[in-house]
Amino acid sequence: MELKSLDDVLEEELKDLYSAEKQLVEALPDIVEAASSKELQDAISEHLEETRGHVKRLEEVFQAIGIQPESEHCDGMEGLISEGSEVAEADGDGDARDAALIGAAQRVEHYEIAAYGTARSLAQQLGHTDAAKLLNETLDEESAADEKLTKIAEKSVNKAAR
Ligand SMILES: [Fe+2]
Repeated sequence: MELKSLDDVLEEELKDLYSAEKQLVEALPDIVEAASSKELQDAISEHLEETRGHVKRLEEVFQAIGIQPESEHCDGMEGLISEGSEVAEADGDGDARDAALIGAAQRVEHYEIAAYGTARSLAQQLGHTDAAKLLNETLDEESAADEKLTKIAEKSVNKAAR
């Protein structure tokens, strides 16, 4: 990796995110299947659809900036997914597993929120207004998904697990 300018930093961030979102599209179906609560299944399925949209939106961001959409393997997301898979395969109580799945999913959301926040700020500072707007749309969706998971945990899953 060579970082000579803020433009290079933005490009690296976007390539990393592109890989992260694509890994997530592959991984989320197993998480949906592992969830016991219908509400949690629905929330994660919905976020899978949104995540497919995030991949497409990143392609628009690359286009807006004038660079080729390329991935650079995101090790962070790989690690988060691997931890999530461990939870998905766990034996025991379905409600307890759901509570742990929410924890794993929220780690993913926070990771993405950090990355999109950074990318949006960089795009803004570099004058890529359209790209910044697109990144902000995804950032809002990640935050909403995170809040929804908190609600599901507090209102139903954690209570059921207790
Ligand atoms: Fe996403």
